[in-house]
Amino acid sequence: MINVENVQIKYGDFIAMDEINFEVKEGEFFTFLGPSGSGKSTMLRAIAGFLKPSKGDIKIHDKVINDLEIEDRGIGMVFQSYALFPSMSVYDNIAFGLKVEKKDKEFIDKRVRELAKVVDLTDDQLEKNISDLSGGQQQRVAITRAMAKKPEILAMDEPLSNLDAKLRKSLRGELKKIQRELNVTTLYVTHDQEEALTLSNRIAVFSNGHLEQVGTPKEIYENPLTEFVCTFIGDSNKLSKSLVSKIAPNKNISEYDSFYIRPEHISTSVNDGILNENEMIFEFESEDYYGTHYIYHLIDKESKIKISTKEYRSENNRFKKGEEVKVRFDIEKIHLFKGC
Ligand SMILES: Nc1ncnc2c1ncn2[C@@H]1O[C@H](COP(=O)(O)OP(=O)(O)O)[C@@H](O)[C@H]1O
Ligand SMILES: [Mg+2]
Repeated sequence: MINVENVQIKYGDFIAMDEINFEVKEGEFFTFLGPSGSGKSTMLRAIAGFLKPSKGDIKIHDKVINDLEIEDRGIGMVFQSYALFPSMSVYDNIAFGLKVEKKDKEFIDKRVRELAKVVDLTDDQLEKNISDLSGGQQQRVAITRAMAKKPEILAMDEPLSNLDAKLRKSLRGELKKIQRELNVTTLYVTHDQEEALTLSNRIAVFSNGHLEQVGTPKEIYENPLTEFVCTFIGDSNKLSKSLVSKIAPNKNISEYDSFYIRPEHISTSVNDGILNENEMIFEFESEDYYGTHYIYHLIDKESKIKISTKEYRSENNRFKKGEEVKVRFDIEKIHLFKGC
């Protein structure tokens, strides 16, 4: 439905984005994920019409929209700062765009109330002033306002970033529900990998003005195509080439330069003196308790590793600092990358 083809975007002479290609399908929750400054907002602004590509095409329904005015693109926008009218009631904020279009009162009332229901704003809250609402409620209003004109696309730039952690999590769940109920194609910008993984149908990972990978959350996490994606999303251990050649002697690694494995793909057991090919002895350093799992830290002469485990060891069987522990690598789960 949205096609971004070979797009370059400049601010003056500075090339902020280059060679960007991806497609967003109808109804998808599609997320731009990447660190600060990677170009997520720039990409979103270009699709929404605030910036024009200096090369390439942006298409909606196969029509090039590079020169189309913002208001003719059928995109509702939600920003990190709510950008609401503080002196107006919630109702009037939501109704604003429809009033500008001179829709009749009855039509506006019906639309405002039906949307308010979807985002759980009560009739009481509709009458309140924006400034009387909490941040979470204000963001619901912003989403409702963006949806008032029934846009085909909803574009949100870090809409939860101003909220505290707990609220962010609860609103995250609601966002997904709202998006499903309204069935609107959604572009979502975040630097928060957990948000991206839990909300998205697919994710585009950006780094430094280019696209690293597009895929489902599972693909991105389990099959990162680049070293950047592997290290930016989830935790991982960098392994040395010599260690990989010891634990996976049958793997042909000669063409590869960097090696990673996730903490959950390494396990531990008591050193009984018998070692399989994919096992090595490490020295136990320390453990961190996370409630749902432990992180063990282990070292050997040349490397440090982190292991994630749900296995609960009784007080007497805890590994002790300095203890030799048998460490097993799930060698199928080692990620190999060229160049570094
Ligand atoms: N208005 C602007 N003028 C010049 N450079 C900008 C402007 N906005 C963003 N940039 C630059 O473009 C790059 C991408 O920025 P941005 O899209 O805001 O990243 P993100 O949203 O991923 O944090 C950064 O290098 C940033 O400094
Ligand atoms: Mg941004």
